[in-house]
Amino acid sequence: MTGSRITALLAGAFMLFGPGGALAQSADPLKAAEERQASMKQQGKDMEAVKAYLDGKAELPAAQTAADDLDKAIAKIPSLAPAGTGMDKLPGKSWAKPAIWSEPDKFQAAHKNAQAKADALNAAVKGGDKAAITAAFGDMGKSGCGGCHTDFREKKT
Ligand code: HEC
Repeated sequence: MTGSRITALLAGAFMLFGPGGALAQSADPLKAAEERQASMKQQGKDMEAVKAYLDGKAELPAAQTAADDLDKAIAKIPSLAPAGTGMDKLPGKSWAKPAIWSEPDKFQAAHKNAQAKADALNAAVKGGDKAAITAAFGDMGKSGCGGCHTDFREKKT
């Protein structure tokens, strides 16, 4: 066996089993749902960090880091929603509605809207104008997060 052939085999094995490999993610639906929930929790913390600045409880740089992180986290949501990881498949473990996969166009539109709001919030926080940040923050929560949760997330009871 030639050296390059061995290298190719190793690269293949890494793609299948290595950290972050696409297959590794969707092969374990529960893990995929948990990763999605962990990202959502972090997004909640990022929103809190911006709020803390607005409430005068934190400095602007911390809010800027959080808004930047939030913007990137929103971009990753679709990749955190592989098929077969919703509440119909994982009752009591996921609260992601099947509509995410049965109405993909609608889900994409909700995601696109949230991304636009997150971009706007990030820009406002970078700019440092408190009134602009307040407006963008409200819009993000209500229309960005809320716009997706209304149709695609079941409330935990
Ligand atoms: C494009 C859709 C979408 C957007 C945008 C979105 N979420 Fe979510 N969120 C979901 C879905 C779906 C779930 C349910 C995940 C599950 O249980 O598998 C969820 C769950 C959550 C949870 C509960 C996590 C848990 O541990 O059960 C929190 C907290 C949360 N989201 C916060 C946010 C915040 C804050 C924002 C905005 C900054 C946001 N989400 C934006 C779709 C979205």
